Amino acid sequence: DKRYVVTGAASGIGAAVAQRLLADGAQVYTLDRNVPTFEATAHVEVDLANPNSIDAALEQLEGSFDGLLNVAGIPGTAPSELVFAVNSLAVRHLAEAFFERLNPGGSITVVSSTAGFGWPARLDAIRDLLATDTFEEGLAWFKANPQEGNTYNFSKEVTTVYTQSMGLALAQLGFRINSVLPGPVETPILADFEESMGKETLDGVKDLLGRHATPDDIADALLFLASDAARWINGHALVVDGGITGAVVTGVV
Ligand code: NAI
Repeated sequence: DKRYVVTGAASGIGAAVAQRLLADGAQVYTLDRNVPTFEATAHVEVDLANPNSIDAALEQLEGSFDGLLNVAGIPGTAPSELVFAVNSLAVRHLAEAFFERLNPGGSITVVSSTAGFGWPARLDAIRDLLATDTFEEGLAWFKANPQEGNTYNFSKEVTTVYTQSMGLALAQLGFRINSVLPGPVETPILADFEESMGKETLDGVKDLLGRHATPDDIADALLFLASDAARWINGHALVVDGGITGAVVTGVV
């Protein structure tokens, strides 16, 4: 049996991913601060904003795994240090813990966001942050280097750069790491995005595309990247947004 760990599995995209893997016969260990409504192989309660809690959760995960799917995230309406801790620092902390827990050919697949598409403008700062060694040092860096604008965007920029920058190192270990960058998805977090981005912006995107993504639209991309069909895809940031980001960055809309 294949064995996977899915974070953020109590809701939205993570719940869709975990249930699809279970339906395929895999063993699925769910990590979330909330308990999923479906039955996984095992659920481990964790606060991803706290490195000690993450380490305690890791101790409960025995054996090795074919994949880590790091889906959990919080919106920019939460306090900025929390957003940065969960969306960036926990992603790296968990990924690094899995370098020793993956089976040969195993993969790490992370949910970032199209909200992080502006990473090239902040690459120097992001590389500086990624040069820190620990969760605690990363948080200290963030406190000392307040970023302009929305912390959610910055947290996703960091995650997109992290997954792209680690592809080669993981390839040399026989593993893969990739990220999926969704546009708006119909999950509970969307109400917070309406608050932080403005309802008009999100409605405008929905009008252009006819609908928002469903959790399964994103789960399909994550499951592809976590599968052997994606064996030569490494360090890739896959935009899964129905086409909106391409139109924005090329100035079509
Ligand atoms: P959701 O709110 O339905 O699910 C997020 C899950 O993460 C929840 O189960 C929550 O309990 C868990 N979580 C949050 N903070 C946690 C913490 N400190 N410790 C443990 N678990 C924690 O949201 P959704 O949409 O499924 O989000 C999944 C990912 O997709 C997030 O990384 C989000 O940033 C990203 N995303 C979502 C988009 C959307 O429009 N829904 C768009 C782009 C990216």
